[in-house]
Amino acid sequence: NTSQTIYDLIGEEKIRLLTYYFYQEVSKNEALKKLYPDDLAPAEERLFLFLLQVFGGPETYSEQRGHPRLRMRHAKWKIDAAMRDHWMNSMLVALDQVELETNIKEAMMSYFVKAANHMINHE
Ligand code: HEM
Repeated sequence: NTSQTIYDLIGEEKIRLLTYYFYQEVSKNEALKKLYPDDLAPAEERLFLFLLQVFGGPETYSEQRGHPRLRMRHAKWKIDAAMRDHWMNSMLVALDQVELETNIKEAMMSYFVKAANHMINHE
């Protein structure tokens, strides 16, 4: 299989930047901040490694953390549509700060929209 992944096309550095900008937004968002640990650096590293893997890069996330089981890992937080919007808006702001081709940005966006909807566990 020679098809190129998003990771192949954009590289590690842009995924690193995306997670950096995302956590900048989290740190400014009162609703999200209540859910996250005070020290955001380890959380940033976990999301970075997860996204590397999701977009077709190295599988370091699963080597360190096991099967993602993201919905289960998020069950301890009350995630309703409003919280989903806080998360998604933070990711959209982050995506806008990374230089990406339109088609790649759209593919990443549609992945995030689906994944964020999937994390809702409360009305
Ligand atoms: C972890 C909130 C959606 C991926 C976390 C954490 C919180 C959180 C509070 C703990 C931070 C840490 O210590 O790692 C939320 C909320 C969401 C959401 C409110 C709203 C929809 C997503 C989505 C993804 C994602 C859509 C994937 C694209 C992750 C990952 C971790 C994590 C990979 C680390 C899991 C681990 O290895 O323990 N999330 N999240 N989250 N989140 Fe989310």
